[in-house]
Amino acid sequence: MKALVTGGAGFIGSHLVDHLVSEGLDVVVVDNLSMGDLHNIKHQDEVTIYVEDVRNEKFMQQLLQEEQPDYIYFLAAVASVADSIERPAETHSVNQTAVFNMLEYIRKTNLPIKQFLFTSSAAVYGNLPELPKKEDSRVDPLSPYAIDKYATERFVLAYGELYDLPTVCVRFFNVYGPGQNPSSPYSGVLSILTDCLNNKKPFTLYGDGSQTRDFVYVEDVIQALWLITKSDTEHEVFNIANGNEASLNTIIETYEKVAGTSLQVKMAPGRKGEVKRSVANIGKLIKLGYTTKWSLEAGLSKYWEGA
Ligand code: UD1
Repeated sequence: MKALVTGGAGFIGSHLVDHLVSEGLDVVVVDNLSMGDLHNIKHQDEVTIYVEDVRNEKFMQQLLQEEQPDYIYFLAAVASVADSIERPAETHSVNQTAVFNMLEYIRKTNLPIKQFLFTSSAAVYGNLPELPKKEDSRVDPLSPYAIDKYATERFVLAYGELYDLPTVCVRFFNVYGPGQNPSSPYSGVLSILTDCLNNKKPFTLYGDGSQTRDFVYVEDVIQALWLITKSDTEHEVFNIANGNEASLNTIIETYEKVAGTSLQVKMAPGRKGEVKRSVANIGKLIKLGYTTKWSLEAGLSKYWEGA
């Protein structure tokens, strides 16, 4: 069996690649290294790697023909709400057009795939009051990022139903763990916090810290992705999360304890387009056999050990 992972040198992608290799799959990675790093992939010598942009349509089509993957995991993305507000056209071309083009090519050429998995985001739920978010909760995408993720989900599911393609979508909540790049102001907050604690840099807190997120350790995310693949599920959406709500203030406090050091915090106004509260109902995933193995404390301790 062969798997193609777009964004496979990125934070979540590289963990997935290592897992797929350990499960005995042949793995092909496409990554333009804009946020990713080949060193993130432990099993580099066992993987076929193409340093390319998923927006290069010709290249992607040739790759699909030559490699004929059974499983496609579309993780390549500009994974930032704030970045999508700064550069909506560019993020759209990655977060939606590249995925659409691949689907269209699979449809036109009847490429025989076993699963096409698209990675969407909890951002699609927006700020509606219903909590925890279930996969069939109402959505309210507030940013270009969230809109692209939701619209692309709909394409992926509709292509699945209309053209009988084995497609599935997942909505990542806030994923953290080793390999998350802290170098951009748009990086995930836990990678930035780790960098600040480690290097005694000031941390900029946007808003009052009461915003909540559902932080999930990357190993649990990989567990979930693999369960979905093994279940041969089609035309469904799954939340991937821990199922617990924590405010940014609680995160900071917990991480300071774990690290045994205190953080210098600079206050700044809240970011536009942001979600105020986020937490998932993970019942659907649990039905597939998912169990969260990493509490926030355990995940932060493990992350800090390796930092
Ligand atoms: C994150 C993911 C996004 C995913 C979504 C799912 C990243 C970069 N983004 O977006 O891909 O789809 O979760 O819910 O991982 N913050 C600060 N200071 C900082 C950085 C962030 O206060 O230096 C705050 C933000 O304003 C926000 C919270 O921390 O309120 C989390 O921010 P971030 O890690 O960027 O994640 P989301 O915007 O939730």
